Amino acid sequence: MPAITGVCMLQIVYISSAVGAIDTAAILAASRRNNARDGLTGLLYTNGKRFLQALEGDAANVERALARITADPRHRAMVTLSCRDVGAREFGDWAMAERVAGDDADAFMERVRALVAGAAPSVRATFDGFVQLPRAG
Ligand SMILES: Cc1cc2nc3c(=O)[nH]c(=O)nc-3n(C[C@H](O)[C@H](O)[C@H](O)COP(=O)(O)O)c2cc1C
Repeated sequence: MPAITGVCMLQIVYISSAVGAIDTAAILAASRRNNARDGLTGLLYTNGKRFLQALEGDAANVERALARITADPRHRAMVTLSCRDVGAREFGDWAMAERVAGDDADAFMERVRALVAGAAPSVRATFDGFVQLPRAG
């Protein structure tokens, strides 16, 4: 029987902690390239210390990406916050939102809210709460 793809989407949300100083440009470049190739959408939030990522798409592709991400030494203590089948994508695209010291907090929050606007209430609440946390020391 042929594999059925695109019928059931998997969406995973996890948090993790950065190891050392993070080159977010390198993560962004690899993620953009791979996620476009694999049809993955979602949002990666970072403040340089922590990550919060939602990743969704065909289950096999999400699992393959997660296997690479889990093995990545640039972060540790990955904790899955939610993992569910979604009937349709909740994120139209893949994006990264990087919080840097000194930026406009309200404008940043608005940007994240726009990026998660289509997500389930629990996912929106997770990003909302995380982004409002003070910059971790
Ligand atoms: C917090 C974090 C999030 C990442 N997110 C993604 C991602 O969404 N997609 C991806 O392909 N790689 C992601 N990566 C990078 C992967 O761990 C891995 O380095 C990359 O997929 C390898 O790609 P390459 O074989 O094309 O070089 C992430 C890494 C970190 C530390």
